[in-house]
Amino acid sequence: MKRTRPLYSGKAKSVFLTDDPKRLVMEFRDDTSAFDGEKIEKLDRKGTVNNRFNAFILDKLESAGVATHFERLLSNAESLVKRLEMIPVECVIRNIATGSLCKRYGIDDGLELDPPTFEFFLKDDARHDPLINDYHIQSFGWASPTEVEAMKSTTFRVNDVLGRLFRSKGMILVDFKVEFGRFGDQLLLGDEFTPDGCRLWDVETRKKLDKDRFRHGLGGVVEAYEEVASRLGVDLETPIGS
Ligand code: TMP
Repeated sequence: MKRTRPLYSGKAKSVFLTDDPKRLVMEFRDDTSAFDGEKIEKLDRKGTVNNRFNAFILDKLESAGVATHFERLLSNAESLVKRLEMIPVECVIRNIATGSLCKRYGIDDGLELDPPTFEFFLKDDARHDPLINDYHIQSFGWASPTEVEAMKSTTFRVNDVLGRLFRSKGMILVDFKVEFGRFGDQLLLGDEFTPDGCRLWDVETRKKLDKDRFRHGLGGVVEAYEEVASRLGVDLETPIGS
């Protein structure tokens, strides 16, 4: 399946139409963005690492019964996905307090959250992705009550599956963000799951292995993503299609 023309270009990925109206090509670029697009840099290899990492994770989720838009890898930086009607909200689960949660509520950084907490944010950079609640989503018509419940329960399922996977390789899934979209009458996990959209700490040293390295100028960003990939056994080398 070949891409035909551009549909949309985001901060780190571009999306293309194909000959099949129900399929898109998603290209992971090397661009890396933080603080709602305030800080942007190109990081060598990141597109490939994230594309292949995302394929590995979404495949694991499918095997665990989480339906996603992912179909197959097309090249190092491109994947074929189902074309979804995206719901404009971000679903976040936090197992450990850090980031915006600590600033917003004055919670100590590093506090273990029992139970893990769930948050919805509106996907709107110009408004700095404000925190929203279930009623906003329903009252403003962004999603139905059934979809709101499905987004929550599926995000908790993702937390269970991936929390265990990362833990088995010596990493803590601190928090993460996922997005959902409609495909006919199905609700599918869309967008991506990569170290750009989650926080991962080494279980012993608490070394940050995710995009916080970029946000806070710690260096070694793609090297950290490659370390996570290597611990999980993600193949970053074999040519696609062989
Ligand atoms: P936060 O602490 O900045 O609210 O982020 C919580 C988690 O969600 C963190 O893993 C990063 C991820 N996230 C995104 O990937 N994109 C976003 O726009 C937001 C708000 C969070």
